[in-house]
Amino acid sequence: MKKIAILTSGGDAPGMNAAIRAVARTAIHNGLEVVGIQRGYAGLINGELTPMDRRSVSDIIQRGGTVLRTARCLEFKKEEVRERAAKILKTYGVDALVVIGGDGSFTGAKLLSKLGVKTVGLPGTIDNDLAYTDFTIGFDTALNTVLDAINKLRDTSTSHERVSVVEVMGRNCGDLALYAGVAGGAESIIIPEKGFDRDELCRQILEGKKDGKMHNLILVAEGVGGADDLAKYIEEITGIETRATILGHIQRGGSPTAFDRVLASRLGHRAVEVLLEGKTARVIGLRNNQVIDDDIDEALAMERKFDDQLFKISEALSN
Ligand code: ADP
Ligand code: F6P
Repeated sequence: MKKIAILTSGGDAPGMNAAIRAVARTAIHNGLEVVGIQRGYAGLINGELTPMDRRSVSDIIQRGGTVLRTARCLEFKKEEVRERAAKILKTYGVDALVVIGGDGSFTGAKLLSKLGVKTVGLPGTIDNDLAYTDFTIGFDTALNTVLDAINKLRDTSTSHERVSVVEVMGRNCGDLALYAGVAGGAESIIIPEKGFDRDELCRQILEGKKDGKMHNLILVAEGVGGADDLAKYIEEITGIETRATILGHIQRGGSPTAFDRVLASRLGHRAVEVLLEGKTARVIGLRNNQVIDDDIDEALAMERKFDDQLFKISEALSN
């Protein structure tokens, strides 16, 4: 193996740059050539490949976003487009491709590997929705962004004795809401993995008020949605002023935390080792603080285990 390519795909995540840096530097350290592909699979099929050296990844470990840019490329779902991508990689003399992204990007990598392209995936998404790894790159930073926001909302909610409904990202995964809820001392956490009864929620809010609670912080995961409607309903039933805040894309930006930088460095380094060991169609992750690599098909087929214990803890600590 002489030359590897790197791309970032799907939603960006803080720490993607640290992962790019780790892959590029490890590869160069091992005598490999490196090319960066701009704009994910969209850039690949447009031939947007540029050589990278050690200096190409200087001064990026601390930056959010991705210097390689990212894109969602629906065309890549077509077999003939992927065949073209495989040919482009061959034309550029690329022996292996490192894909940094979420499950959609991994599906693209998996299908590309069936066409003979050596691939390895690094989990880059704020959602933490990949079953095979305990944590994805970007989740910790997004979590801290949410925490910072809810600390601020708590100040104003307490002053006004209001209920604050906060909607956080995560597609169909409730981890951001769950972890932020526990870390931020939320009164209620509403996530897709668990059922929820809005009348019971209103009852709890009224009970809390009787008990001297000065505010109520309710975290709603994107997969449940409807923060505005829920806020209106709570205000109507409880008579307590309620405001909704949808945090949105602010959660995707910002300088990565130390945890995400170290995770990206460990996983990125391992991605190159795995390729040098001659493996293909693998994804790199973290389990019980050990860096692991799994078959991409098996990893994508794994069922995500919900952290029921953490949810129970949140319930016990919230009243
Ligand atoms: P993420 O990787 O963060 O889950 P997406 O689900 O948007 O983000 O997927 C990112 C990109 O991966 C898509 O725009 C597309 O290029 C590629 N992709 C997603 N699903 C498939 C699929 N079924 N087949 C081929 N490529 C796919
Ligand atoms: O997958 C990351 C994510 O931020 C999800 O949490 C969210 O549902 C989605 O991407 C938003 O996508 P877009 O940036 O296309 O609005």
